[in-house]
Amino acid sequence: MAKRSEGFGPWPQPAPRFFEGAAPAVLNVPDDVQKDWDKTVGRRYFKQVVFETIPAWLWSRRNPGLVPVSDARFCEILCDGIFSKFLTPKSLFDPPDLALFGDYLSGCEGPGLGDGAEWFKSDFTPMRLVSNASDSATAPSVVLFKRGRDLSFEVVAIAVNDQVFDPRHRGAWTRAKYFALQGAGVLTTLLMHPKLHFPSNSVDAITRSRLPADGTLSKLLRPHFRLALAVNYAVLYGSQTVLKPGRLYAPYPGTHEQHDEIVAALWQGFEHPDGTPNRAFPTYTLQLDAPVIHSPYGDFLGHYHRTLLGFVRKVAQEVVATPSASVSRWADYCARWLPGFPDGSRVYDADLLARALTSILLDVSVSHSADHFIYGTVNEREVPFRLHTDLPSLARQKEPDLETLVTSTDNFNYRMCMLMFFRPHVIERLMDIDYGFDTPTLRAANAALRADLVALQATLERQGIPAYVPLECIASSVQF
Ligand SMILES: [Fe+2]
Repeated sequence: MAKRSEGFGPWPQPAPRFFEGAAPAVLNVPDDVQKDWDKTVGRRYFKQVVFETIPAWLWSRRNPGLVPVSDARFCEILCDGIFSKFLTPKSLFDPPDLALFGDYLSGCEGPGLGDGAEWFKSDFTPMRLVSNASDSATAPSVVLFKRGRDLSFEVVAIAVNDQVFDPRHRGAWTRAKYFALQGAGVLTTLLMHPKLHFPSNSVDAITRSRLPADGTLSKLLRPHFRLALAVNYAVLYGSQTVLKPGRLYAPYPGTHEQHDEIVAALWQGFEHPDGTPNRAFPTYTLQLDAPVIHSPYGDFLGHYHRTLLGFVRKVAQEVVATPSASVSRWADYCARWLPGFPDGSRVYDADLLARALTSILLDVSVSHSADHFIYGTVNEREVPFRLHTDLPSLARQKEPDLETLVTSTDNFNYRMCMLMFFRPHVIERLMDIDYGFDTPTLRAANAALRADLVALQATLERQGIPAYVPLECIASSVQF
């Protein structure tokens, strides 16, 4: 149970155990937010445990082990949607990557590059933080992809630890693919997606504590922070979090401490084993532009970014028109706890303020809901969390028995997590937000936003961009 605030609003603090090495924590969840969580999220969890446990258990018994994942299917899974966030172009390969895949990059091994094609990697090396324990094998992996002129991807090689495999290595290749998929699943849910959860907690707390609730900025932000402090507290510090092995439905390999270290990497970044920075995992800074993702998922989020930015610019114009000491102080505090946020000396630059706020709004609404919507369609038997097999080896190329790679209990825990935590459960929709602005100009902007969001669906369809999440399934905030 979160510690309740008494007479003092929520406030960020250095993360327990990590200090400045992890996203700041907000440990005093306000009563009203906690009660909202108890009534909505907590009650749903209870119902799901009661009604979904037995069907999930039966499903896990009827669906043992993993299913085959062809090379084409492997690319389909990892090179679009939520997993495509890991795709990193060759311009950001570091010396250890170039050394690892040198023979393939030069064309001495594998298919070579060819005209108009580009190299990409998906780096799952933060799996190094999880020990290769006896009850579940784990390994850091890096996947080398080739993207053709038609933007389709081909998997060329997979490094597991320092050993590189390619499709010639049969059973070892099959194992390497599952270790990469394990890295994708674990690191998506513990590192890449949590970037959308935790960094904005500081702004949430500071806004609640230092801005008048009836001010324009509060009216803009508060709907987008509904429930988030309580959801995030439950994930990171709750007594029943699935990050703790042994808790109900805990699905991950490794210890709670190791899971916390992976989460911390979203903030402190991650290095190569030789101690040099890994540019695929930089230290956290609030991005002021649309997210860069090398797949149509990036185009999808880019469209929503533009729509939200158009609206937020109108709000920012109004905020900067009447500077106030409370807004300056609020910005100073936000900048202190969230790198990249404009401080009091820059917050009256309307463009900068609009871009900073849009990034936060996009993260906690569209990006967050889309990630969950996509992950909710992942086949647990293609993207495992735990694995029971030896690491791939060139000396052993016999195909593994897919039924034995995961246990029924692994599948059951994963299915329950999928139902309770990964699939979206929207409480309040983005498309319905009424910010309650005071001025006619901003009330008109609010109405225009709702119309623009609806119109965007047609634009996406016209341009052939997949609807990664339908508008009616986008929550206004982190509600699950
Ligand atoms: Fe989430």
